[in-house]
Amino acid sequence: MSWKIEPRDPRTQSEGVVEGYEQTARRWPSQSLVVRPHDVGELSGPERLERRLPASKADLAGRGASRAIGQLIHLRARIVDEDGSPVPGALVEIWHCNSAGKYRHANDSSSSPEDPNFHGNARLIAGDSGLVELRTIKPAAYAVPDTGGWWRPPHIHFSVWGRAWLSRLVTQMFFPGDPLNEHDAILNAVRDPEARERCIARLAPTARGPADALVYEYQLVVRGRKAAPRM
Ligand SMILES: [Fe+2]
Repeated sequence: MSWKIEPRDPRTQSEGVVEGYEQTARRWPSQSLVVRPHDVGELSGPERLERRLPASKADLAGRGASRAIGQLIHLRARIVDEDGSPVPGALVEIWHCNSAGKYRHANDSSSSPEDPNFHGNARLIAGDSGLVELRTIKPAAYAVPDTGGWWRPPHIHFSVWGRAWLSRLVTQMFFPGDPLNEHDAILNAVRDPEARERCIARLAPTARGPADALVYEYQLVVRGRKAAPRM
C-alpha cells in the first residue's frame, strides 16, 4: 500500500514568501519532498475517529437570552472529492471569531470584547451527501497585530479529516463581496484567481432561506486539481 504525494501546484497552493505575510515561509516546505513508505497505522487510521473526537452541536450562536451578538447565518458546506462526489463521514472542524473580531482562544490578545454566548468552534460529521450545516453568526474582520494595517476579511477556518491520518486539510472560507478579500495576504498568497474564487462562499437566495438568517453555501474539494488551498 502506498500513498501518492500530489505535486503542489504553486498557482493553487500558496508557496514562497508572500510580501506582507511572513508566516508563508513556515507553511510550505523549504526543501523538496522525499517519498517515504507509510506504515499501516498511518494509512488505515484513524479508526472511528468520531469516537475519539466526538461531534458537537451544530450551533455556535445559541438562542433567546443566550444568543450570540451578530448577524445570524446558516452555513451549508459540502465536502467533495476531485470528481465532485460527496465525502460522507468526513470529520469537519470549524472555527471563527465573534462579531467583534475576537477568537475564543487564549492566543487572541486583542482588546476586542469576548461574547460569552458565542461558542467559537464546532466539530461535525458530513452526511451522505457530504454536507455539514452550522448555525452561527457572521465573523467580523480583525486587524493582524504588528503588520502595519493588514486586516483579515471575515473568514471561517475549516479542518477536514478523511479516512487516514495523512488526509487532513486545513483551509479558510471567505464571504462574497467583502472589500477586504482583495487585500488579504493569506487569500492572495493563492496566485490563481479561480482557486481564490473557490475559497469564497455563495450567498443563497434570501427568499428561500430562514426568516432570521442568511444562508451561505460553500463547496470544499479535498484533493485534486481543484483542492481547497491549504491556509
Ligand atoms: Fe482567522
